[in-house]
Order: sequence, then structure tokens, then C-alpha cells
Amino acid sequence: MASKYHEIYQGWQKDPEGFWANAAKEIDWYKPADKIFDDKTSRWFAGASCNTCYNSVDRHVERGRAGQPAIIYDSPITGSQRIYTYEELLDEVEALASVMQKKGITKGDRVIIYMPMVPEAAFAMLACARIGAIHSVVFGGFAASELATRIDDATPKMIISASCGIEPGRVVAYKPLLDEAIAMSKNKPSTCIILQRDQQSCDLIDGRDLDYDKHVSAAKAANEKVPCVEVAATDPLYILYTSGTTGQPKGVVRDNGGHMVALKWSMKAIYNVEPGEVYWAASDVGWVVGHSYIVYAPLLHGCTTILFEGKPVGTPDAGTFWRVISEHKITTLFTAPTAFRAIKKEDPQGEFIGDYDMSSFRALFLAGERADTDTINWAEDKLNVPVYDHWWQTETGWTIAGNPVGLGALPIKYGSPTVAMPGYDIRVLDDAGHEVKAETLGNVVIKLPLPPGSLPTLWNAEDRFKKAYLEEFPGYYKTADAGFVDEDGYLFIMARTDDIINVAGHRLSTGAMEEVISGHKDVAECAVIGIADKLKGQMPLGLLILNKVVTASEAEIEKEIVKLVREKIGPVAAFKTALVIPRLPKTRSGKILRATIQKIADGEQWKMPATIDDPAILDEITDALKRRGIMVQG
Ligand code: COA
Ligand code: AMP
Repeated sequence: MASKYHEIYQGWQKDPEGFWANAAKEIDWYKPADKIFDDKTSRWFAGASCNTCYNSVDRHVERGRAGQPAIIYDSPITGSQRIYTYEELLDEVEALASVMQKKGITKGDRVIIYMPMVPEAAFAMLACARIGAIHSVVFGGFAASELATRIDDATPKMIISASCGIEPGRVVAYKPLLDEAIAMSKNKPSTCIILQRDQQSCDLIDGRDLDYDKHVSAAKAANEKVPCVEVAATDPLYILYTSGTTGQPKGVVRDNGGHMVALKWSMKAIYNVEPGEVYWAASDVGWVVGHSYIVYAPLLHGCTTILFEGKPVGTPDAGTFWRVISEHKITTLFTAPTAFRAIKKEDPQGEFIGDYDMSSFRALFLAGERADTDTINWAEDKLNVPVYDHWWQTETGWTIAGNPVGLGALPIKYGSPTVAMPGYDIRVLDDAGHEVKAETLGNVVIKLPLPPGSLPTLWNAEDRFKKAYLEEFPGYYKTADAGFVDEDGYLFIMARTDDIINVAGHRLSTGAMEEVISGHKDVAECAVIGIADKLKGQMPLGLLILNKVVTASEAEIEKEIVKLVREKIGPVAAFKTALVIPRLPKTRSGKILRATIQKIADGEQWKMPATIDDPAILDEITDALKRRGIMVQG
């Protein structure tokens, strides 16, 4: 079918408020908006009231989906599966909401959720939404001090967690991390609800910790019901911390109303999924993809969503994804390219695919990092379905540029996530803020206002919000991605313009790692850069300058640094290489030439920076990288 995209995009350009007012009809409101967009506050659906849990769960139970599976928990890592219908999901959420309410959680209170990929994580998010509490999910692969930073920023009254998570070959005890984080933080939550898992239980602290199962079961037995609390469309639904350029993460705020409208619209228009169908985002609830497309969007749309606790390979093999697709009749899979690189590495011929009936499968969507053509071609060839790249950020919560399959797919151009979605007016500017011509690389920005669903601010940090996103290019939101638009309006995203690196689809701050490394007693100075990695896209590399007098050998210090980053940031940083070098290359004004070092390490063409202090340092680095076997050509 011919795509309706251009017509719909132009319709949005002519009348953005009309476009979103129309999309908002898909949501149930207690009170409609006074203003679709309020210029004064830059908020969508001002004056409206709603409840995200009602729209995600209750209304489906009321309108014929009570018996339809809402969440399928598929956990190859524990060898278990559980299915929750919409009615059962409602029971779970109501019971947990009741336990939370009895512990004094009310509208506007913050609740941190630090959990592995278990359905209780989704119940906890929805229970918060139900009572108007603001959740903040922290990814399980972060260390105690990262959790502590988030506790101090969000100041939660309650934390919901589990005894452990399970990674291939090891059980990760969460409770000691939680206790350590609470001990470190200034703000102490008054209650923790802890899910005891069979793989490893934990001790509970009297007076603070509640056993999840015990209290939720009691609430169910007593048939405790908790009505949905009416919140303003502009009230926060959640805070999700993401890497900034410093060790202090940014608390991205998501509102209730605009978020629902945008996500609901995206399910048909972008993913071409109908209510009742089975949709799978293979990510983690700790990331934005998990928030938007494991939990909220599929449920808002009345789909069945998959909560998968496993990895693309090794749980038990590279055929896991195909098993899940065939067993649950999945139509649409959304994951990061790195997952496919992992599968391709294990099973280059895609032999596992033949073992499964994949007839339900229609499309693969990739995001989170640049989708390389090799990976796309492999997936297209082996799976025989179209593969769509799309580009977005934690800040936006949904697609900025994509291929709107539900409006009629546009031709695919490899290397491009395709075109701007309605709501987004994408421009490319030079460093002075002037628009550049087609095909010219520049700063990718979005003309304000941002659409519904995108962040209205950072938690407790309005100034930082303005400084990080709005000040450099007045009138625009700075994405901090560099790219270009071609003659057909297709966008190409090439790289970040800041110190963020992307490791296995996970966004990490090199600045945060540098802060940790600088804390080591023997380190005088350091630089962390992201170097190319075949599987994970990028991997961090730490370059160290040591003090004149040190307390250990270079090799020992390098090992200690690797351990330190894992302890302070977490295993998710995948920080495996630290390298002592004699000097760091700098400009004459003292700025470390990170981009040049990265090019050398990646074996890319590089030019001697005109402002370099001492060109000989680059030879020293090249030698050091070569000696360590880090990829350098020529
Ligand atoms: N709790 C505790 N530790 C965790 C964790 C969690 N929830 N998640 C990851 N980790 C650990 C891993 O065990 C690993 O530790 P190790 O250094 O001891 O091996 C480390 O953090 C790095 O994890 P990860 O980047 O996931 O690497 P991996 O080698 O375990 O797996 C992939 C690589 C590609 C298979 C995996 O990253 C993947 O499936 N990615 C695609 C999906 C995705 O997560 N996308 C992100 C957003 S869309
Ligand atoms: P996150 O906030 O973790 O989703 O990371 C967002 C960043 O990941 C973006 O700013 C990009 O740098 C990168 N990214 C996400 N999706 C894509 C994509 N499809 N193509 C290229 N880069 C992407």
C-alpha cells in the first residue's frame, strides 16, 4: 500500500494540536484538557486528568479483555513461565497497591523499583501509577553507589526490590546491594518490599522490610481493592535516570497524559500492531525501551506483552528468541542490534531458526544504537521479515525518526532510521546554529515544542534541563547526536556529540567512569573513551596517567581500576580494559583529545589536530595500544 506518512506528517505540521487532540481520543480521561498544548508552561493536555494504570489495565478488563493474556513471563534462565490475564494483572496490581497504600504511599510520593526481569517489576510500576506515586526503576546491573545516587535524588519513601537476579552462570544477590545503597544514602526509605526468589532468599530487616508474597497474598485474600487515583495529565508518572556527561545521572521526567497519547498512537502507526496481538520488546524494564514497550505501550493498546528473563544467547542457546516467537505467536519483536550480533556470532547460518514455526512473525524493529547494515541484512535474510531501524532517546520515550509501518512502510535505506515522526520537526545545525544543507553532517536538533511523551523537565533540576538541552541552540532541543538528512528527508545518525558511549545498547557516561577512576590513589589523570567492538558496538577503554610515586605495579593498578569501576558503576559498564600510558594528548588549552585517541584505537583515518600540545604523544599512545593488542591499523 502507498504510505500515508507524508499526508499525515503534513497534517500534523499544519495543525499539531488538532493532530494530538485526535490521538488523545484513544485514551480515557476523567477530565479532558483545557488546552491541548499550553504555551506558557510548555505542557501537553493541561487541565486534563487521567490514570495510566486505568488505561493500561482496568479498561481492558471492563471491555472484553479480562481473559486475554496481558503479560507472559518467559524465563529461560530459571526454566519457568507464567501467564497473567488482564484480570489477573489487575488483581496483582490492586493487591500490591493496597500494601503500598497501607504503608503510607500516596500521590506524588516516589518509589524506587530495583528488580530483575520478573513480572512483579511491572506490577510495581503499574501499582505506583494506580495510586499516583512516581516510580523510578533502577536497572539491576548498576552497583550500590549508583543506586544510592538515585535514592538521594528521588528521595523515595519506599523501595521495591528482590532477593536476587540471575545472570548466566551466577546469581546476583540484590539485597546486599540494596542495603549497602541505603546505608550510603542520606535519604532513608521507610519501607522496602522484597520479593524472595527461589534461587536465593535474603534476610529481611525488622520494621523496614516486608515480604512481597506474604503481604500481597494477604491483600488478595482480604479482597482489598484500590481505586485508580485521578492525577493531572501533567503530573509525573515516572523518573528514569539516564547517563549525563557527569557522574550525576539525569532524572528524565515522564508525565501521565502526553505519554499515554504518544505511546498508544505509536503502537499502530509505527509498529503496525493491533490490540489483542502479541508484542515483544526484548530489553529490560530498567531501560526506557522496557518502560515504553515492555510495559506501557503494549498494555495501553490491549496487546499481550512478553517479559523475557534471559539473553539472546546462552539461555540456553542462540535459538531462544525463535522459541519465544513461535511459542507465544509473536508478531513483532523490538530489540537492540547488539542482541542480533550476539546471535549471528553464535549461529552464523541461522540454523536454529529452522527448528521453529515462525509464521506469526511479521517485523523486527531495532533501536538503542546504530544498526549496522551487516546485522540488518543478516536478520532480513535469515528471518524473511522486514527489519526497521528507529531512533529515539530516553528523553523522548518514543520514536523520533522511524519507519511508520502502520501508515504504510516507506522504502528502507540501510544506515537510516528513516524519517521524522509526526510531533518531531528535525533539523540539522552547524555549531553556530545555522541550518546546513541536505547531506551535510551537523548537530541533530528538534524544533520546540517537543511532542507529547517527551520529557518536560529533569527531576529537581530545571536549570540543568535548560542547560543540557535548550540553551546551546535557542528554540531547539539538542539531541547530542550528530547526523544528516538526505535529499529524500531520510535521517542518518552517526555519533554522539558528547561524552556518552553506547555499550550493548546501554547508554553510559565516560565522564562518570573518569570520576570513579580519578578517585584511585595512584591515578593522576585519566580519560575514558569508547572504542569499536564487534559485538557490543562500543566498549570503554580507560587511559591512565599515574602519580610519580605509586603503591603498586602498573599491571596491579590496571586490575584495581577495572575492579573499581565494576564496584562503583556496576557490571553493566562492561569496563574491562585500563591502560597506563605516559602522557595524554591535549590541546594547548588543556583539553584532552579524546576523539583523536578513539580514531587511533579504532584504526580510522585521523588528522593531526592543529592545536595539539605535543604531537609525539600520539605516537606514544599508538605504541601502547599496539602493545596491548587493541585494534590499531597502520
Ligand atoms: N543484573 C546484574 N548484572 C547484570 C544485569 C542485571 N540486570 N544485566 C547485565 N549484567 C551484567 C552481565 O552479567 C555482564 O557481567 P559480566 O561482565 O560479569 O559478564 C555485564 O553486566 C554486562 O552485561 P551486558 O552488556 O548485557 O553483556 P552480556 O555479555 O551479558 O550480554 C548481550 C551481551 C549483547 C547478549 C546483551 O547485552 C543483550 O542482550 N543486549 C540486547 C538487549 C538490550 O539489553 N538492549 C538494551 C536496551 S534496548
Ligand atoms: P538511550 O537514551 O539509552 O535510548 O540512548 C539514546 C542514544 O542512543 C541516542 O542519542 C543515540 O546516540 C543512540 N541511538 C538510539 N537509537 C539509535 C539508532 N536507531 N541509530 C543510531 N543511534 C541510536
